Amino acid sequence: MNAIEIKQLRKEYKDRVAVDDLTFNIKEGEFFALLGFNGAGKTTTIKMLTGLLKPTSGDALVFGKSIITDMNSIKEYINISPQETAIAPNLTVFENLVFIAEIYGFKKEIAKTKANLLLEQFKLTDRKNDKSKKLSGGLKRRLSIAMSLITNPKIIFLDEPTLGLDVRSRRELWHILNELKGNVTVILTTHYLDEVEALSDSIAIIDKGNLKAIGSLDELKKQSGLEKLEDIFLTLIESEEVLWRH
Ligand SMILES: Nc1ncnc2c1ncn2[C@@H]1O[C@H](COP(=O)(O)OP(=O)(O)OP(=O)(O)O)[C@@H](O)[C@H]1O
Ligand SMILES: [Mg+2]
Repeated sequence: MNAIEIKQLRKEYKDRVAVDDLTFNIKEGEFFALLGFNGAGKTTTIKMLTGLLKPTSGDALVFGKSIITDMNSIKEYINISPQETAIAPNLTVFENLVFIAEIYGFKKEIAKTKANLLLEQFKLTDRKNDKSKKLSGGLKRRLSIAMSLITNPKIIFLDEPTLGLDVRSRRELWHILNELKGNVTVILTTHYLDEVEALSDSIAIIDKGNLKAIGSLDELKKQSGLEKLEDIFLTLIESEEVLWRH
């Protein structure tokens, strides 16, 4: 079953087309990597799929519901860890988690229990009572992802979750993300291709708002005759004509 069906989705700004009639599907439970250079349209796509930005035209169905007409019910089962984090700087780490859980309607006690579990899972317990603005960039990213999971979403969008994380934190995060596999549909954007190779079931490569390729890593390798994702990525984006679809 498809978790998301993107249909001719388009976003135009005054002087440019950020997302150019994108069409592709994301299967339920899949770990899906959305790749592209800076400015390719990844964040814009994610913002449209999560209701933060209105498409110029086109639509997407999230579990069969339209982002144009049914965003309110879609919001119940999705969540996002945005590229610019959504952390309240003057709340503590714990308070940020409890606050988000309460926004989504959980009672205080349940919100606290959930917050404590996520602190453990994300190894943030020792920073529980620190003001969030005192966290390093990497720890903020971890908190932001923990916040996006507090509602037990069926789909999470992670926009460059590992940006600025050190090697160990990145590996720890991979571990957490790997455990989500199968239960939660994860849509990830990243510029670190090693994590795409390690984690993703499917990969879409976009360039200037256009889909250039979609498929599993093995499919992309077969279609391109290349071994490394980095080579596939660079070759594909440099050649204007190629479009691989499975
Ligand atoms: N508010 C805006 N007004 C005008 N243009 C915008 C706006 N937001 C984004 N854009 C443009 O839309 C295009 C796509 O931007 P987007 O943020 O989606 O790229 P991205 O793939 O997420 O890039 P990055 O890897 O740098 O995060 C870019 O050319 C960007 O400059
Ligand atoms: Mg972006």
